[in-house]
Amino acid sequence: MCVRPRIRIAAVALLGTAAVLAPVGAPAQLTGAGATTTAAGPAPAPARQRELRALLRQDCGACHGMRLTGGLGPPLTAEALYDKPADSMTETILSGRPGTAMPPWRHFMTETEAAWLVARLRNGTIDAPDSR
Ligand code: HEC
Repeated sequence: MCVRPRIRIAAVALLGTAAVLAPVGAPAQLTGAGATTTAAGPAPAPARQRELRALLRQDCGACHGMRLTGGLGPPLTAEALYDKPADSMTETILSGRPGTAMPPWRHFMTETEAAWLVARLRNGTIDAPDSR
């Protein structure tokens, strides 16, 4: 499977935007009224939520399927994830799974962001409107 060049391009693009958007992701600015929280912290800012969704579709989707119903990697649908421990799913995203094709993503998202993705994937609300 020829996904590496794509990932590298996305990684470079992400590193660029990460530098620009870093202040937006600062936890102090995320505590609006009615923020949906995950075990690991408050929801990312709306602009960052859109970036994470795009990352999910483009980069994760390369292996887990455009509709996340599975491909080289297993499905990331609510049906597939709801009974799997959220913490271990978050850890898999951050650290990858050594010895498998699943790469680590900790340089591209925080633990809070990975936990937010897992929470939204598990309850099937990944495409729901941004929470504030
Ligand atoms: C290069 C291919 C590849 C990419 C890109 C990739 N994954 Fe994976 N992922 C895998 C494979 C393969 C596994 C299964 C590993 C195993 O055998 O345990 C996996 C496993 C997982 C699991 C655990 C699922 C389970 O049922 O145990 C999660 C969660 C996950 N990936 C999320 C993501 C997310 C989120 C992204 C994007 C940020 C991503 N993956 C990008 C290949 C990939």
